[in-house]
Amino acid sequence: MSKVAIEFAGVKKSFGNKLVVNGVSFTVASGECFGLLGPNGAGKSTLARMVLGMTRPDAGKVTVLGVPMPARGRLARKGIGVVPQFDNLDLEFTVRENLLVFGCYFGMSTRAIEAIIPSLLEFARLESKAHARVADLSGGMKRRLTLARALINDPQLLVMDEPTTGLDPHARHLIWERLRFLLARGKTIILTTHFMEEAERLCDRLCILDHGCNIAEGSPYALIEEHIGCPVIEIFGGNPQELSSLIRPYVQRVEVSGETVFCYAPDPEQVRAQLRGRSGLRFLQRPPNLEDVFLRLTGLELEK
Ligand SMILES: Nc1ncnc2c1ncn2[C@@H]1O[C@H](COP(=O)(O)OP(=O)(O)OP(=O)(O)O)[C@@H](O)[C@H]1O
Ligand SMILES: [Mg+2]
Repeated sequence: MSKVAIEFAGVKKSFGNKLVVNGVSFTVASGECFGLLGPNGAGKSTLARMVLGMTRPDAGKVTVLGVPMPARGRLARKGIGVVPQFDNLDLEFTVRENLLVFGCYFGMSTRAIEAIIPSLLEFARLESKAHARVADLSGGMKRRLTLARALINDPQLLVMDEPTTGLDPHARHLIWERLRFLLARGKTIILTTHFMEEAERLCDRLCILDHGCNIAEGSPYALIEEHIGCPVIEIFGGNPQELSSLIRPYVQRVEVSGETVFCYAPDPEQVRAQLRGRSGLRFLQRPPNLEDVFLRLTGLELEK
């Protein structure tokens, strides 16, 4: 098996006159979990579709499981499991029928699919729903079925576009546990997510995209150390502008987002000392996390 599962080299893509992928390069090693993070519209799903050979780059090279994409897409897709951003299940079919039909796309025999269905239902905790129509499932159940369906061909590589969006916290923890299990068995995962905790827990490495550019890449820990590297205090309950001017001399950086002042403070005690005696203020002191990195690097603006 190739040691490199995915390679993007100088990849560009425009839709009309809008450049949505602007010279992206990265490599994902076999057995790694690699994250694609970025604000809405940053180009994550476009890159995920390129891994599947469903979107053709205008420039650059995409190689997946040792073959060029999209030229050898059919071959590569035999070894890939897909969780698209939006579920595309057959609503009129039952859970079981959805799995049967999907398995047929991979040329599996009905017997082979039937043999694997119980473990897939167990994976998704849908054992009691085998004969339910998909239209009658909750949103989270549909998502879990899409996840289970992605495993039907025992893929080497999983391409997961926001796998846990719409799931409740229990279901999300269940899926994280299952994805860890797959990683422990040597699978490779490329995943997009808006949940920074998910990326921090699962990803060996990740890149942050903004306006189609790869603006940072590394392990979650390395990115947090490089871009933040000190404790964070969130302060709310006062006038954010006034508070931020008051503490600015005592912190590395201060930012206001809505009613909250974010202080990046190597010496948190100095900040607290400045604000002692002020009534009504609330403090939350915590270690830095990936969300701090994300906000710092991508800014707080929404896609226009
Ligand atoms: N088929 C298409 N035709 C035209 N524009 C497209 C097409 N697909 C994507 N785009 C545009 O490309 C940009 C990137 O879209 P993409 O879906 O890759 O973003 P994303 O990072 O996945 O966003 P989100 O977090 O909202 O899912 C967006 O501006 C989007 O409108
Ligand atoms: Mg997307």
